[in-house]
Amino acid sequence: MKCLRWRSNRHRFYMFFACASLFLLCKHYSSPNEKIDEEDEYLNAVDEHEKEKKVECEPPGAVESKCTVDNGKAMRCWKDEEEVYFPTSYLKKRFDMTGKLGKDGSTFELYTSYAKMRTPESTYEPLGPFGHFATYSVETRDRVRCISAKTNVPMSTQWDPTPYYYPIQIAQYGLQHYSRIKIGLFTNSSLKIQYFSLDSNSNKTEDKREVLVGVKSNEWKGAAGMHETTERLFFNDEEKGKVVNISAGCLLIFIIKIIDDSFSDALANAGAYVYLDKSPDLHVVSFDWKPYDGNASFTVLAKMKQDDLLVLINYVFSEGNGKCVWQEEERSYDDDTIVQKPKKDGQVSYSYSYTGSSQYGEWSNVTRDILVDVSRALSSGDNRKKDDNVILHPGDIRLVSLGFRGQLTVRQQINQRVEQHSHAFRSAADWMIQNQDKKGGWAVPVERSIADRKLVLEPGWHSAMAQGHGISVLTRAYKHFNDTKYLLSAMKALELFKTNSSEGGVRAEFFGNVWYEEYPTTPGSFVLNGFLYSLIGLYDLSKLEVPVAEIDENIRMKIKEAQQLYSAGIRSLKQLLPLYDTGSGTIYDLRHVALGTAPNLARWDYHAVHVYLLKWISGIENDEFLSKTADRWIGYAYGKRAKHN
Ligand SMILES: *[C@@H]1O[C@H](CO)[C@@H](O)[C@H](O)[C@H]1NC(C)=O
Ligand SMILES: *[C@@H]1O[C@H](CO)[C@@H](O)[C@H](O)[C@H]1NC(C)=O
Ligand SMILES: *[C@@H]1O[C@H](CO)[C@@H](O)[C@H](O)[C@H]1NC(C)=O
Ligand SMILES: *[C@@H]1O[C@H](CO)[C@@H](O)[C@H](O)[C@H]1NC(C)=O
Ligand SMILES: *[C@@H]1O[C@H](CO)[C@@H](O)[C@H](O)[C@H]1NC(C)=O
Ligand SMILES: *[C@@H]1O[C@H](CO)[C@@H](O)[C@H](O)[C@H]1NC(C)=O
Ligand SMILES: *[C@@H]1O[C@H](CO)[C@@H](O)[C@H](O)[C@H]1NC(C)=O
Repeated sequence: MKCLRWRSNRHRFYMFFACASLFLLCKHYSSPNEKIDEEDEYLNAVDEHEKEKKVECEPPGAVESKCTVDNGKAMRCWKDEEEVYFPTSYLKKRFDMTGKLGKDGSTFELYTSYAKMRTPESTYEPLGPFGHFATYSVETRDRVRCISAKTNVPMSTQWDPTPYYYPIQIAQYGLQHYSRIKIGLFTNSSLKIQYFSLDSNSNKTEDKREVLVGVKSNEWKGAAGMHETTERLFFNDEEKGKVVNISAGCLLIFIIKIIDDSFSDALANAGAYVYLDKSPDLHVVSFDWKPYDGNASFTVLAKMKQDDLLVLINYVFSEGNGKCVWQEEERSYDDDTIVQKPKKDGQVSYSYSYTGSSQYGEWSNVTRDILVDVSRALSSGDNRKKDDNVILHPGDIRLVSLGFRGQLTVRQQINQRVEQHSHAFRSAADWMIQNQDKKGGWAVPVERSIADRKLVLEPGWHSAMAQGHGISVLTRAYKHFNDTKYLLSAMKALELFKTNSSEGGVRAEFFGNVWYEEYPTTPGSFVLNGFLYSLIGLYDLSKLEVPVAEIDENIRMKIKEAQQLYSAGIRSLKQLLPLYDTGSGTIYDLRHVALGTAPNLARWDYHAVHVYLLKWISGIENDEFLSKTADRWIGYAYGKRAKHN
């Protein structure tokens, strides 16, 4: 194999790649990192993982010699007449670089930042897509345990092993789906992500491809075999039209017994069921049902394309010990013990806790993205690691059937669709309303500690980023669903921006400049990206146009207040921004000032977030200082550095 050399103009020597074992990068991503927060979707945007490669070779014509580096440390190196060569593994660390071998192994690319630098594609519209959030995938983040079947919003396990609601994550879930509605971003089986160019003259904002199943009565099959109790009674409901009353005995999920491997047998005891459409794109299932008691449940049966594994996803009235999805245990009746049997006869069964989303004896609508539910189920398990995160794409599963058990009525119209953006967006916005506390905030129910526990936020803390994101969701929901309840909630969210951190609010000051704290610690931490996101939220409310018929003095006052809070934040930004600039990168927060510790340098994906947000806000403000700063920061990612004296 040929050796590769690379001339560094500045240092006037060749770096020698490869002779020592050459560890190629991206180890950054797999190492657990304490401060991975909700804003760093850039982790997903990074190039695919590289494998460690060992390349045995020496620089042609060079001889190994003894070198020392950094105050006398011995280091292997090679010399020829002109140059000195050092191992990349050392140079990488020493100069914070990244690189990778080309596919055929004969080229090597060296770069400073492993994160992609992006800037907004157009000027920001307060009711438009939220940045590039349309490309987010909140539901498949490894720290997202599941999309709750109770609330239809994500639950996190980032800072606590018991799933909890993290307001920032829920808001981002809502903004992601809203942005997809706005730009028409949908997935289909032949492409992971597909952009439909939306004709601005048409009002098509969602992919309407859908099918209805179960409309004909003979599509509803009754379980045969062991339990002959399954009854189906078809009739017309005044409100819902054609419906079916199902009375499927008292079959509990864990006694589904598979007689042989074929799924028709699995279905034999599935209560009453309908076969679903097999199109891989149509993985969102929705229907209306009326369960009569806590024994009612439904199950979607899906088949993995890769290995034909049958996955049963049950939705049950059970708290599941606080888990939002769990693997079903199989009860052995001989000795009354419960044993976990993961993959029995090519099938595996998981349950989602549905408790609370439905009143017994009342109609409710169920909408689930089965692709997401299967991926979260397969990623569950008590000792899961980050690498266990299963991400599925359309085409990876095929839906087989939807079955019902217990006493219930179902509308004879099971809807299968490509996406559920509007439903997800509404679920997030409704969660924001239902979970807003007296202070107008969305409290985080788990402890957060930063700077080696020097700064600790007790459960129940508020975040300016959650408040800002919440406002961004709610102003959009107000316009999208034409419902003032969302506007009123957005207005309430302002209150904490006026309350000091020490008083449970999110407001801090840095040498007389106001700051909205992502983590409202005392002393302040002054996290840059969370502050910038909170400004976007304030801007969204400040620009909201409310029809004359709806506006009143209170609304007018709150919109003005949002304007003032936003302007004060922008003034601070212009004052304090230079403090985040190291001359070769950026700083995540100002804890080094507050605590007198070493600065907390932003790793490259956060640096990319800084750049994007700064460009976003400089576009809104049409401000040259902000824009030039962002340009300089982009330069840092390509190896540029500020001059020294
Ligand atoms: C998926 O997208 C591709 C590219 O736009 C398109 O050609 C194909 O027909 C789509 N597939 C389905 C099933 O809609
Ligand atoms: C889109 O919707 C608006 C308002 O609902 C309507 O005035 C307009 O005619 C619609 N455009 C098209 C092409 O359907
Ligand atoms: C359907 O089932 C419910 C609950 O068992 C019952 O109250 C109702 O009368 C049934 N409807 C018909 C038309 O039988
Ligand atoms: C509820 O489910 C039905 C399918 O039966 C669907 O057509 C309808 O749009 C859903 N309703 C809501 C409010 O989501
Ligand atoms: C399930 O059905 C049984 C028998 O009808 C009843 O006693 C029990 O209360 C039901 N369970 C729930 C959770 O409703
Ligand atoms: C929004 O709702 C109000 C009152 O509910 C109604 O008067 C108005 O026409 C609606 N606007 C649109 C665009 O649908
Ligand atoms: C909030 O903090 C500012 C600046 O530190 C201080 O001037 C003000 O009095 C504080 N307000 C309250 C209510 O404590």
